[in-house]
Amino acid sequence: MTSPVRLALLGCGTVGSDVVRLLHEQSADLAARIGAPLEIAGIAVRRLGRDRGDLPVDPALFTTDPLGLIKRDDVDIVVEVVGGIEPARGWLVEALRAGKSVVTANKALLAEDGATLHDAAAEGGADLYYEASVAGAIPLLRPLRESLHGDRINRVTGIVNGTTNFILSAMDATGAGFAEALEEATELGYAEADPTADVEGFDAAAKAAILASLAFHTRVTAADVYREGITEVTAADVASAKAMGCTIKLLCIAARGADAAGRETVSVRVHPAMIPLTHPLASVGDAFNAVFVEAEAAGQLMFYGRGAGGAPTASAVLGDVVAVARNRLAGVHAASESAYADLPVRPMGEALTRYHISLDVTDRPGVLEAVAGVFARHEVSIATVRQGPAGGGPAGRGEDAELVIVTHVAPDAALAATVQELRGLPIVRSVTSVLRVEGGA
Ligand code: NDP
Ligand code: HSE
Repeated sequence: MTSPVRLALLGCGTVGSDVVRLLHEQSADLAARIGAPLEIAGIAVRRLGRDRGDLPVDPALFTTDPLGLIKRDDVDIVVEVVGGIEPARGWLVEALRAGKSVVTANKALLAEDGATLHDAAAEGGADLYYEASVAGAIPLLRPLRESLHGDRINRVTGIVNGTTNFILSAMDATGAGFAEALEEATELGYAEADPTADVEGFDAAAKAAILASLAFHTRVTAADVYREGITEVTAADVASAKAMGCTIKLLCIAARGADAAGRETVSVRVHPAMIPLTHPLASVGDAFNAVFVEAEAAGQLMFYGRGAGGAPTASAVLGDVVAVARNRLAGVHAASESAYADLPVRPMGEALTRYHISLDVTDRPGVLEAVAGVFARHEVSIATVRQGPAGGGPAGRGEDAELVIVTHVAPDAALAATVQELRGLPIVRSVTSVLRVEGGA
């Protein structure tokens, strides 16, 4: 058999330790699939003394010098599962420029500055693979960057964060509030000690940028993505969604559109939204991920599976390692980044969406007309209006009523301005819930 393909593994935490395990358990099969055995040349970590359990690896392979490891002549492929922007960016640029292919799960870096990595890969004639960076185990990026390259993707809608999907699913199932559901997610090990990146939508926004870049052949960064997390979603919002035959999900939505002059654009956003229970994404529960792709010729495609966790993520990493190792042995490289379309990213205010708004109002003649007038002034068309007793209590008590209004599609800026004006109306006691609605509810 050919001489071994040697890996530098950067990071041996949740994902890295499962990469080591799978490399060990499947070494014979992997060697047969590649045509050469895979060997770990070294493993860079932060703490040499950390207890790593019964990891099936020679302790002498560990080092705290990632750069030294990358530069070694006997390293062919660099696998980065550390995370963060720096020093990871410096390491990967060094590897790629030196012609060493890189496999990474680092969504934060790819979304912040993927361009630098792609440029370094082109410069060094190396492969850059990152399947594990979005939706963990789900084969999604390869289909977008290879299988669907003959098609035109119009829209990608996804649940790409497991922690928030677990929290929203728990709120939906039990009626719990956000804080209570977050506590459960933390106890079960889904949410990290600092859950900010997940619950504030940063993690999903990074994944949205990666998906949009691949789907639309355009460089989209995390800064281009409109982002709202789920911390403001209340038990009342969830109940309101249920009353409409909907559920609330944190969605990432990347879509083609056109600006006022008819030029093609893309919009990329992450926010909680109500979707009808009949939507394919509505049944995605627990910490699962799913991504719904709409393409011109292929039609609707759904990708579903485990989006996080050591073993599922390591599965995606190893799939990339096999591909990269095969390319190396064949003396070829994958097609480089495709960003030729270079479409402008539209601001959120121009994104077309729908709102579900609940208001507590004074229950007297003329109120509906005053409320409807606000929508008309902002050129937002109302789809449905429902009136009931305020606070959802028994009818006929008190002088307040609850109005639940669902709009037709309108620019987000017009919808936001409508809500702002409603908040200032003397007859509006409070705006109790504002949620975007997606998927034909
Ligand atoms: P962990 O925090 O569990 O592991 C990080 C590893 O990197 C540890 O082994 C740590 O060393 C090492 N490390 C940290 N800083 C340095 C440094 N300066 N030099 C050398 N080594 C360092 O992270 P995860 O395994 O959870 O995540 C890794 C990557 O995978 C991230 O990019 C993450 O976004 C991504 N990812 C993770 C998923 C998951 O479910 N966990 C899912 C999809 C992607 P030590 O062991 O000594 O502390
Ligand atoms: N924190 C992420 C999630 C891990 O909950 O989905 C996977 O990227």
